[in-house]
Amino acid sequence: MTTSRRRLVALTIAATLAVLATLGAAGGALVLYGGFYNVASTRAHFQWVHSLLELGMQRSVRRHARDIAPPPLTGAQLIGRGAGLYRDNCVTCHGAPGVAQDDIGQSMQPVPGPLADAARRWHPNELYWITRHGIKMSGMPAWEYHLSDQDIWAVVAFLVALPALSPQAYAALPDQAGHPQRAARPAHAQADAQRGRLALSQYACNACHLIPGVTGPDTMVGPPLHDLAARQYIAGGLPNSAANLTRWIQDPQRIRPNSAMPAMGVTESDARDIAAYLLQP
Ligand code: HEC
Ligand code: HEC
Repeated sequence: MTTSRRRLVALTIAATLAVLATLGAAGGALVLYGGFYNVASTRAHFQWVHSLLELGMQRSVRRHARDIAPPPLTGAQLIGRGAGLYRDNCVTCHGAPGVAQDDIGQSMQPVPGPLADAARRWHPNELYWITRHGIKMSGMPAWEYHLSDQDIWAVVAFLVALPALSPQAYAALPDQAGHPQRAARPAHAQADAQRGRLALSQYACNACHLIPGVTGPDTMVGPPLHDLAARQYIAGGLPNSAANLTRWIQDPQRIRPNSAMPAMGVTESDARDIAAYLLQP
């Protein structure tokens, strides 16, 4: 081939790829803007899409969990505690030996599987990572801001013991484990604005407020939380200070009964972190 002919072939290939890419993007935009993609939860993904997403999730969990070293996970007391926490927080979606998941868990897309054999597919550090961080776009919640680290490991200890547990053995687990006192999440003395930013989405504040630096829906249920540092008053009359903002975040109903802002169960330490973030100049 002469040089000019080779150049012509290369040009033709490049032009064809460019046309295909443009057509692909146009097709995608048409499907998206035309509303042709069906977002109904009653419509399952194609099997190959499901398998591909599942593979991506698996690879991601393995990578992100690889440096976590599990503590010892044996002992009837730890497993009993984990069982109680599991009953309170996970059965709704995942069911348990001899127990079906609730309506919520039955009709989600993707459907949350039973965790009876999860410990055969995941290592303990991976079960911990999934439980702590959740799985984006699947409906698996993150528990980092709702269970202490100790309690997350107790649930993992239970999941590790689960494959050997019959429905009878599960039902016979002591009922005192049914509602264990949750271990307090450790409070830290120094407010941490970056933790606060994460907490804002983990307590669903972004469902009602536009918050700078926090991704969320285009919502106006509550006032936008921009430039709080520059305000004299917050929540319509409360002098603006870190302490008052912390109090408001923890229990708005006590400061203004019947406020449309519900108490979100924010711990004091998390409320201080959130206040530190919102009050950043
Ligand atoms: C609101 C429903 C919901 C709740 C509550 C829930 N999960 Fe999930 N969970 C899901 C969904 C959805 C998935 C993703 C399924 C998928 O992608 O295949 C999932 C996936 C998982 C997985 C990976 C499962 C697998 O088979 O690969 C684990 C482990 C897990 N959850 C643990 C827990 C634990 C522990 C709790 C309680 C602390 C819990 N989940 C609470 C919905 C839930
Ligand atoms: C269900 C919706 C909803 C959720 C969730 C919610 N808020 Fe609010 N928030 C409101 C409403 C409504 C107001 C105004 C209420 C009032 O003044 O009585 C408000 C007021 C506020 C204010 C005062 C704003 C101002 O302009 O002075 C702050 C700060 C605030 N919320 C922070 C938070 C934080 C932090 C969270 C999460 C822990 C949160 N909110 C969760 C609805 C919500």
